[in-house]
Amino acid sequence: MRSSMALSKSLLLLLLGFLCCSSTEAHVEFGFYNDTCPHAEAIVLHEMTRIIADDPTLAGSLLRMQFQDCFVRGCDASILLDSSNNNVAEKDAIPNKSLRGFDVIDRVKAKLEEACPGIVSCADIIAMAARDSVYLANGPYFPIQTGRRDGNKSEASDLMANLPPPTANITELKAFFLQKNLTVKDLVVLSGAHTIGFSHCSSFSQRLYNFSGKGDTDPSLDMEYAEKLKRKCKPHDHDDMRTLVKMDPKSPRRFDLCYYRLVSEGKGLFASDEALLHDPETRAYVERQAMASSAEEFFNDFGSSMVIMGKIGVLTHQKGEIRKKCAYVN
Ligand code: HEM
Ligand SMILES: *[C@@H]1O[C@H](CO)[C@@H](O)[C@H](O)[C@H]1NC(C)=O
Ligand SMILES: *[C@@H]1O[C@H](CO)[C@@H](O)[C@H](O)[C@H]1NC(C)=O
Ligand SMILES: *[C@@H]1O[C@H](CO)[C@@H](O)[C@H](O)[C@H]1NC(C)=O
Ligand SMILES: *[C@@H]1O[C@H](CO)[C@@H](O)[C@H](O)[C@H]1NC(C)=O
Ligand SMILES: *[C@@H]1O[C@H](CO)[C@@H](O)[C@H](O)[C@H]1NC(C)=O
Ligand SMILES: *[C@@H]1O[C@H](CO)[C@@H](O)[C@H](O)[C@H]1NC(C)=O
Repeated sequence: MRSSMALSKSLLLLLLGFLCCSSTEAHVEFGFYNDTCPHAEAIVLHEMTRIIADDPTLAGSLLRMQFQDCFVRGCDASILLDSSNNNVAEKDAIPNKSLRGFDVIDRVKAKLEEACPGIVSCADIIAMAARDSVYLANGPYFPIQTGRRDGNKSEASDLMANLPPPTANITELKAFFLQKNLTVKDLVVLSGAHTIGFSHCSSFSQRLYNFSGKGDTDPSLDMEYAEKLKRKCKPHDHDDMRTLVKMDPKSPRRFDLCYYRLVSEGKGLFASDEALLHDPETRAYVERQAMASSAEEFFNDFGSSMVIMGKIGVLTHQKGEIRKKCAYVN
């Protein structure tokens, strides 16, 4: 009796497994935590509201965190893992100046563990924190899918091949995005994230002081703007870890259309921003948004492209784990 029950139970499980996983590949869905942690998204928004109120500059870092997480090894929270004795993790590849907000993720995770222990993945927390950062910077609120699980590996050496550098030209940018199955439209839309946040001088100082290796300034950079940037960022300051430059000088904390206006005026901070003018499709988008009287189209596009980016290489179902602490595998 017992064994036949066990048998039918395992048959049932097998059948269920078949139904849920045979037809589609790994997938995430809207409201994944409806039953298992119904307040997950509200808890994150509540914490994020306090966090961004305390330090509005974290919005940019947390948005960028999802980009880096998803492009390197998929959206699996590999960006959060600490290095160990015999492994240098992603977070230590980018010289540590680069990303901030790891402690914020830990704080949100702690709240979720209190409410629903062992349920919500760190990868989903990154995605929710990025979404809420946009919203709290006066950008759009868009629904995102959840159900990602956490990976168990993080290697600094994965960065170079997966993360586009700020020096990338349009051909390279397209290739980096295509490699992740993202379109040229996703590229120009997601680059709009640079309407908030800050950069270190080292990310663009080559454009100011040694553009083509002859001690020159990038001629495509607006001259007045270049002079302003030179006053902030001195030459040979490659190791300057402190000076932060607003990527959108007028409204660095406001998620709006200013990025496109800047790029169209030759005031995009990175060569990769300026590069969007070198392709007919991306250029047309930049110019349309620069002229737009409403942010509606950009906001809708941004939500859609974030959902697509949030699906890159996700681990779902039996793959991956729900980390107890985001910095360590279980
Ligand atoms: C298209 C290729 C991209 C390149 C080459 C690029 C490059 C960079 C660089 C070099 C920085 C400055 C880092 C520093 O010096 O601290 C930065 C900042 C930032 N990036 Fe990107 N990025 C790209 C795409 C994206 C995407 C897709 C997103 C998000 C959807 C994003 C969001 C951000 C944000 C919000 C910041 C500000 C970070 C802060 O305030 O700390 N970027 N990016
Ligand atoms: C969760 O609830 C929302 C709102 O009722 C619904 O749209 C969504 O499909 C649900 N998701 C799941 C996985 O049950
Ligand atoms: C960043 O790295 C430098 C040099 O590698 C080190 O001295 C510094 O303590 C690090 N800072 C943080 C916040 O980890
Ligand atoms: C890490 O994850 C991979 C892929 O999910 C799995 O095959 C492997 O067994 C895991 N390794 C450890 C040590 O958990
Ligand atoms: C972009 O950079 C690549 C590699 O550095 C180079 O081969 C290519 O010619 C460049 N393309 C354009 C359009 O500048
Ligand atoms: C991109 O799509 C191809 C074909 O559908 C798939 O094999 C590949 O794994 C996808 N790549 C990523 C990074 O999702
Ligand atoms: C400028 O770039 C050239 C070529 O890459 C290099 O040889 C030179 O040392 C650089 N100059 C400075 C001041 O960094």
